[in-house]
Amino acid sequence: MPRALLLENIDPVAADLLGSAGFATESLRGALDEADLIAALDGVDVLGIRSKTQVTAEVLRRRPGLAAVGAFCIGTNQIDLATAAGCGVAVFNAPYSNTRSVVEMAIAEIIILARRLVDRDRALHAGTWDKSAAGSHEIRGRTLGIVGYGNIGSQLSVLAEALGMRVLFYDLEDKLALGNAEACGSLEELLERAETVTLHVDGRAGNAGLFGAEQFARMRRRSLFLNLSRGFVVDHEALRDHVLSGHIAGAAVDVFPEEPREQGDAFGSVLRGLPNVILTPHVGGSTQEAQHDIGRFVAGKLVDYTGSGTTTLSVNLPTVALHGSSAARFALLHRNVPGVLARADALVGEHGLNVDGQVLATRGELGYAVTDVGAALPPELLAALQALPETVRLTTFGHRTG
Ligand SMILES: NC(=O)c1ccc[n+]([C@@H]2O[C@H](COP(=O)([O-])OP(=O)(O)OC[C@H]3O[C@@H](n4cnc5c(N)ncnc54)[C@H](O)[C@@H]3O)[C@@H](O)[C@H]2O)c1
Repeated sequence: MPRALLLENIDPVAADLLGSAGFATESLRGALDEADLIAALDGVDVLGIRSKTQVTAEVLRRRPGLAAVGAFCIGTNQIDLATAAGCGVAVFNAPYSNTRSVVEMAIAEIIILARRLVDRDRALHAGTWDKSAAGSHEIRGRTLGIVGYGNIGSQLSVLAEALGMRVLFYDLEDKLALGNAEACGSLEELLERAETVTLHVDGRAGNAGLFGAEQFARMRRRSLFLNLSRGFVVDHEALRDHVLSGHIAGAAVDVFPEEPREQGDAFGSVLRGLPNVILTPHVGGSTQEAQHDIGRFVAGKLVDYTGSGTTTLSVNLPTVALHGSSAARFALLHRNVPGVLARADALVGEHGLNVDGQVLATRGELGYAVTDVGAALPPELLAALQALPETVRLTTFGHRTG
């Protein structure tokens, strides 16, 4: 029976799915350090982690039986991806499971800022009745400018329009405008036209300092600003200056250039204490629903990989999905040099088997071929495939349909 070890309090749906697929699953609440992780992985086929467990080169080399790692989160920096690929360990994550959560928080914050509810709330908690319509606005009919029209930006576009906002967006790539949204030809154009600007760009290095004094100055007077993307994208000193001068009427910031590592750690920022500014501790994607979906999504990828060799959306292996029925299947992860597939197929033919279906993909130094054959795989063929000098990992699958 294959074994799965799930760390860091992963949503129970993951253990359920892996259990249904025939895994004996152990779940632990916390992370493990390197030595404990190596010990715990003895005999384990599949490891599930979140952001705290470091899957180092040492862990991967000491546990060659490990087939796959599921990162039940968005980021994969905690895993030595290159070593994992070199050891034939597939890594999967959940890049889209919290998209909706981020979008809902952005919508909520746009309304809260437009109504200046943060200041009303603070005043009332402090015992002051401050009932006034001054500076309070509906968002209906106002213009939202979305910078970065990817998964989050484009979904925000749809929900914002449903609330009656006019939507502009700017993306480096030529993106399909959803609904009545309008693409801007430049960031400058968006800043000059939008009344609320929200950042949803990705974390590429070139986006460091994307938004500073020049961009805030170019925004319309008394406009609103949100950043739920990456902390290093925004110059917080410049944002502070423009909030204090009144040029920016309010801001919501969920991500920071430096974020505390541990729960309960002290937090310092030049944005603390500013009027009509919402600060949240990188919780845009943190909902129970997102956690559940992450559990479902990543466990599904692990089940597909271990059951059929499918690597769709793997973050470190070539991505392959072979559909069809067959008596047997093998997946050959190999060094990406000329002639490996031809040699593997010749070996299949020499053992009297016909290739029913086959798909190959390459990624950098690795190639990955999944092959269906019409009869059971003889041990001599498997030994010959294993003995190919380019073989990194050979995996076999029994009779399968679909
Ligand atoms: N706050 C949170 O909890 C939270 C949760 C999930 C994601 N995020 C962050 O949100 C951001 C967006 O996530 P996503 O899934 O939509 O990513 P994505 O990759 O789908 O979309 C990013 C888009 O930004 C565009 N882009 C990149 N640089 C740009 C630039 N300089 N100007 C204009 N467009 C640019 C890209 O072309 C792409 O279309 C990421 O930075 C991600 O890390 C934050």
